[in-house]
Amino acid sequence: MSRLAGKVAVVTGAGRGTGRVHCERMAQEGADVIALDTVELDGTAGAVEVHGRRCVALRADVRDLDALTEAVTHGVAELGRLDIVVANAGIHATGVPAWEITEDAWQSTLDVNLTGAWHTVKAVIPHFGADGGSIIIISSTNGLRGTANTADYTASKHAVVGLGRTLANELGQQRIRVNTVFPGAVGTAMVLNPATFARLCPGVENPTSEDAAKVLAARNLLPVGWVDPVDVANAVVFLASDEARYITAAQIVVDAGLTQKA
Ligand SMILES: NC(=O)c1ccc[n+]([C@@H]2O[C@H](COP(=O)([O-])OP(=O)(O)OC[C@H]3O[C@@H](n4cnc5c(N)ncnc54)[C@H](O)[C@@H]3O)[C@@H](O)[C@H]2O)c1
Repeated sequence: MSRLAGKVAVVTGAGRGTGRVHCERMAQEGADVIALDTVELDGTAGAVEVHGRRCVALRADVRDLDALTEAVTHGVAELGRLDIVVANAGIHATGVPAWEITEDAWQSTLDVNLTGAWHTVKAVIPHFGADGGSIIIISSTNGLRGTANTADYTASKHAVVGLGRTLANELGQQRIRVNTVFPGAVGTAMVLNPATFARLCPGVENPTSEDAAKVLAARNLLPVGWVDPVDVANAVVFLASDEARYITAAQIVVDAGLTQKA
């Protein structure tokens, strides 16, 4: 498969979870990858290189604009160009009502999820060439609607939609497309952890992933508790590819029908 042949992609939050799968899927489609995260990236580099593509894997925190700019500049120098950016790094930490969120927790979420996405585009935009490119911002179904006990996360994921809409207006004439993806629950550590299982299944002692899956599946149109990382990555590959060459300022929901269930 070569839908992204000859292209170079930057992915933030690439060390694990969906970010690693974005890298892997894009490599499978022929792209070289600049993979950025605060955690180790050996697994991600391996997942890219197994497809015969190059991976520049670097530690960079999206909260640190200078470090991010340096990492992107280094990666582009190594790989020769830049075509695709996936602003994927994110955290989801709360579980208390809005008025009980601490100042620190609120700021941490905004710093990574919103300011981190803005830093990412700030670091990459100077590197796009005359062919333009594709920026994909990873929001969430919490970027479309609110849910209890997620105010910091929900506010940040709504805010990145505004960032994407604005960028699409600013960058269209340079043929840089900017689209937003809204995953529902995804089967990664962000959801598949004991604290989330307990939140989803109050009253169940030591709830398992099967217990959580039943609760989440009841919220979806399709009979699944969560989508897999590759389902989100497939939407990203499409938006990154020339198949989507006239798609910008669009919003693609990958949520098993969560947000449309009556
Ligand atoms: N898992 C879900 O249910 C779900 C649903 C909707 C949206 N999302 C979004 O998808 C994206 C990926 O989430 P995931 O499920 O793969 O989660 P994950 O926790 O498995 O991975 C997130 C990655 O981001 C990295 N990261 C965190 N802070 C960072 C920072 N300051 N700088 C650089 N990297 C940082 C982490 O180290 C990790 O590798 C996030 O933006 C998340 O909000 C996830």
